[in-house]
Amino acid sequence: MSWKSRILQPDTAVEQMKQKAALRALEEVRDGMKLGLGTGSTARYFVDGLGAQVAEGLNVVCVPTSEATRAQAEGLGIALASLDELQRLDLTVDGADELDAQLRLVKGGGGALLREKIVAAASDKMIVIADDTKLVDRLGAFDLPVEVNIFSHGATAAAIGVALAATGNAGDMVLRLSSSDSPFITDGGHYIYDCALGTINDVEALAQALLNVPGVVEHGLFLGYATAAVLAGTVGLQEMGQL
Ligand code: 5RP
Repeated sequence: MSWKSRILQPDTAVEQMKQKAALRALEEVRDGMKLGLGTGSTARYFVDGLGAQVAEGLNVVCVPTSEATRAQAEGLGIALASLDELQRLDLTVDGADELDAQLRLVKGGGGALLREKIVAAASDKMIVIADDTKLVDRLGAFDLPVEVNIFSHGATAAAIGVALAATGNAGDMVLRLSSSDSPFITDGGHYIYDCALGTINDVEALAQALLNVPGVVEHGLFLGYATAAVLAGTVGLQEMGQL
């Protein structure tokens, strides 16, 4: 049986594009690799395809970036390990909420930014997979997620506001809520503030300023992690960087 007969069969054009990007990234996986598994609706297709190849004998060991991805990977029989055990990874494949021509990313729409960044930072390569609407001239149209410790999170939010203003990025912030209207809690037990910035001025300065705020656990700017991207559009696949 071919591994392709085992994979999900998406039924909308957008979902098919996401799967195409994921399957192109899957071509970069080699037997014996240590992989980071991203989170979100696009990464899900990568994990699904990987699981199908594992069922046909591919030998890889993976670190999931969320409990949702862990559950999916376990269900597919993909071997998992912790980053503590593996230390370094050959490749991480993950989605993004936005990316620019320099492969700078906004991530965290799915709330997994902290683990995603830890795993990306431990990876020799990171391939971003997305539909091509995620490619933007300037980052910021997608609200920037900032993960904060729950302790005094209102005070932390106020300090985030000061950091935003100091870097020329004033904008509204909202505490992310779950479907039951209670605060969304990340896998790490934190809250997320989503910052509506429109366009981000001086991305690097903002990234540093946010990390300087006590109580900020992580932010959704991923700078210098992605080494390549596969973007799927109606006319086919677009590749950026070094796959
Ligand atoms: C989760 C993420 C996701 O990668 C990002 O939200 C993109 O998700 P999707 O592929 O569903 O559009 O950063 O924290």
